[in-house]
Amino acid sequence: MSSSVPRPRSLRPRSLRPRTLRARLIAGLVALLVIIFAGVGLAVTTALQHYLLVRLDQQLSDTGGRYAASLERAADPVGHSVDRRDTRAQAPGTFGARLLHGIVTAAGVVDGDADDAGVEAGTIPADTDDLVKLTAADQRTLAALPVAGPARTADLANLGSYRVRAVAGQDGDVLITGLPLRPLTDTVHQAIMVEVTVFAVALGVAGLAGALWLRLALRPLDRIAVTAERVSALPLARGEVVLTERVPGTAADPATETGRVGLALNRMLGHVEDALAQRHAVEDRLRSFAADAGHELRTPVATVRGHAELALRHPDPIAPPVRHALERVEAEARRMGAIVDDLLLLARLDAGRPLATAEVDLTRLALDCTDDARAAAPTHHWRLDLPAEPVLATGDEDRLRQVLANLLANAHRHTPPGTTVTLQLTGHRLTVTDDGPGIPPDLAPHIFDRFVRGDQARSRTTGTTGLGLAIAHAIAAAHGGSLTLRQEDGRGAVFVLTLP
Ligand SMILES: Nc1ncnc2c1ncn2[C@@H]1O[C@H](COP(=O)(O)OP(=O)(O)OP(=O)(O)O)[C@@H](O)[C@H]1O
Ligand SMILES: [Mg+2]
Repeated sequence: MSSSVPRPRSLRPRSLRPRTLRARLIAGLVALLVIIFAGVGLAVTTALQHYLLVRLDQQLSDTGGRYAASLERAADPVGHSVDRRDTRAQAPGTFGARLLHGIVTAAGVVDGDADDAGVEAGTIPADTDDLVKLTAADQRTLAALPVAGPARTADLANLGSYRVRAVAGQDGDVLITGLPLRPLTDTVHQAIMVEVTVFAVALGVAGLAGALWLRLALRPLDRIAVTAERVSALPLARGEVVLTERVPGTAADPATETGRVGLALNRMLGHVEDALAQRHAVEDRLRSFAADAGHELRTPVATVRGHAELALRHPDPIAPPVRHALERVEAEARRMGAIVDDLLLLARLDAGRPLATAEVDLTRLALDCTDDARAAAPTHHWRLDLPAEPVLATGDEDRLRQVLANLLANAHRHTPPGTTVTLQLTGHRLTVTDDGPGIPPDLAPHIFDRFVRGDQARSRTTGTTGLGLAIAHAIAAAHGGSLTLRQEDGRGAVFVLTLP
């Protein structure tokens, strides 16, 4: 089962493949050069080998088979000395053999430079060759050679590889002449060594030069990346944003490909800057509208409420349905007044108006708020967890009290009776924990947005507006702190207010 689950990236074995564009281009260049060098090396070596072989075959036919023929004569009068073998003008290593009816009667190898000495003395010098013993396999190989056919390569057990050729002798025998392949293979090996050395050096130089050149060529791309990274680190989400980052000069040259990317990025940043400025203007207008509307509504709402109260207190008897209607008018006017106050407060916090800064005793605050909550909701269990020492913080006491009161009110308004609510103070952190039903998962991500409520239908009748947490969040932020929600195991809500 678990094998079908894809492993996280970090657990996978590190791939050896290069990751940066630069490394990949260099690897590609080196791979291409290796292929080219291998091809060139193979072609040159094959051509050289072929050329040397043709030359060796030519040399073989140029020897005229004199040495092998002399073996024939030397073997003729049985028991005669071996110094009649003719090694003149024969290259050292020349192999000769005489076969009679498929059986080797004599075989030898020229082992010194007999040429000059022989000619000058007019005699055939002794000890310039060695008669050799051939194995049975060698004899079979030689016997299988086609007479007067093309030269062939034969591997002789004691002598190594030879290029051999057979011709018919004078009395029904076969004369075989051979030249060693050793010099040829030595030359080819040497050529391969030279090629490998030269190619390795060329590869190293090409790799280094390529890396250097790529570094220069990709420098504009680096500048673009740096600009993009700087922009991505800017807090663009809200408020007034100063977006002056641009890709610098040469990296935005329309004549090059990278320059076009840089130019496009600059243009895009310009558009984004315009859009953000527009958003800020709209936000400003909306904020001032909310503030203006709040101010304008305050007086009429208060007037409605005042008149409803006045009518209810009138000494004349009021018909029960009218009394009920007036009570509803008063209650709703009170609620409306609270909403208007909340909206005005939010507008003020949005505008970044400075809050009062005084020393606030968080311990005292926690005590007061829990007392209030206990009085307001005796159906719940209220627990307070305070440190031994009093904790002091700097801020606006009324606003902080509002945040705590709101969190505690939520903890009893949105949970069933019997729920235990704990307020804990540790350092500058206040945590409100309840063991109620918790925040529905689909609501949690938006819990601090405005007018977000759990049960919309029920909330409207119970008189909640969904502004409480939005205000608490804004107050925490205005203090330079934070308000966060922690949900554990889907049961109970945990709100954490952290002050700097
Ligand atoms: N402790 C809690 N347990 C369960 N749900 C909660 C809790 N606190 C808040 N909620 C849910 O989050 C919603 C938003 O809370 P918020 O305080 O912003 O608004 P409200 O309490 O509905 O209205 P207001 O506080 O403005 O009178 C609530 O409607 C409720 O559904
Ligand atoms: Mg609330």
